[in-house]
Amino acid sequence: MADLFSPVRLGDVDLANRVIMAPMTRDRAGPDDEPTDLMVEYYRQRASAGLIVTEGTQPSPTGKGYWRTPGIHSPAQVAGWARVADAVHQAGGRIAMQLMHVGRASVRANKAPGAETVAPSAIASPDPIPGPDGVPVPTEMPRALHTGEIAAVIAEYVTAARNAREAGIDAVELHCASGYLPMQFLSSNSNQRADAWGGTVARRIRFVVETLSAMAAAIGPGRVGLRICPGVTFNGMADADPEETYAALLRAIDGLGLAWCHLIHVPNPGFDALDLVRANWSGPIIENGGLTHDKAQALIASGQADAVSFGYAYIANPDLVERLRTGAPLAKADRTTFYTGHGDDARGYTDYPTCAAD
Ligand SMILES: Cc1cc2nc3c(=O)[nH]c(=O)nc-3n(C[C@H](O)[C@H](O)[C@H](O)COP(=O)(O)O)c2cc1C
Repeated sequence: MADLFSPVRLGDVDLANRVIMAPMTRDRAGPDDEPTDLMVEYYRQRASAGLIVTEGTQPSPTGKGYWRTPGIHSPAQVAGWARVADAVHQAGGRIAMQLMHVGRASVRANKAPGAETVAPSAIASPDPIPGPDGVPVPTEMPRALHTGEIAAVIAEYVTAARNAREAGIDAVELHCASGYLPMQFLSSNSNQRADAWGGTVARRIRFVVETLSAMAAAIGPGRVGLRICPGVTFNGMADADPEETYAALLRAIDGLGLAWCHLIHVPNPGFDALDLVRANWSGPIIENGGLTHDKAQALIASGQADAVSFGYAYIANPDLVERLRTGAPLAKADRTTFYTGHGDDARGYTDYPTCAAD
């Protein structure tokens, strides 16, 4: 029987165990949005995960919305990520990069001068986002992408996926959750386009289907995953019928042979998101959200998920796999240091000890 600590293959990537570090934005990139020495150390410390999924990483300056998030569009950024990938590989781990284009969930002061805020429609996100000093400010009204511009946005993701592979990153994950650009295309309230990229369900899913297809064609489908959270309301998402939207999306991409579908599982009235994924997707599933050892183990043992991911627990427990294996207590993360916005701030980042050092 499969358990949390048994190996698994997700697409073209072989994992030593099924415990995955969930993607987490930590706002500590360097001044040019490049990974720093501290980030190399942070990811190296967590390399015993079967797979690390990096923090959301912007494919272009336009895709940035938060302060000090890393990019994968400049040579310095690619070089920085190569050092991260190398450190994780040297420690025996595997690493995927989450590609995150924020779309309308953006504050101008956090972006490079001249970088625009774009979205499917000119509808602002109602949720404020922290500015450079950490104080939340209203997001910017986005400019609706012209029909002829959408191919170039997809091309940014393709270049980013290629750059990630050039840096030695094992795979990429398209962030289609949490109200960022792909989800803005998926959700009926944020996508009110009248062209072939909005309106009907088939048109709202098109951006994600075409982006995943293009990335798969560029680096191989076995190195491309996606992350979804049907029904989440974060960053102003309010899809009229998430069950219908995500069933259609998953059916449309099921034949691509992608590496995984990573589900952030939130409760939904009327449907269960894991059941929805299992009914419409035949590839590997990573389940996430509020898991304990026992819940995670049950999901793997029953075959409901191929792997599980942990967010909060990975902040304060760099050796989470070992703690889960031995039943050692889990350390609690300090929320005040989740996003410090300083590239050299090790507090609450690389200073959590392993169990052996406790
Ligand atoms: C500090 C922090 C930053 C996060 N950043 C991201 C992110 O960049 N991309 C993403 O998909 N999810 C992000 N998440 C969500 C986590 O990946 C995960 O889905 C969530 O924490 C629930 O899992 P958990 O209950 O194991 O923590 C973040 C969560 C936290 C706590």
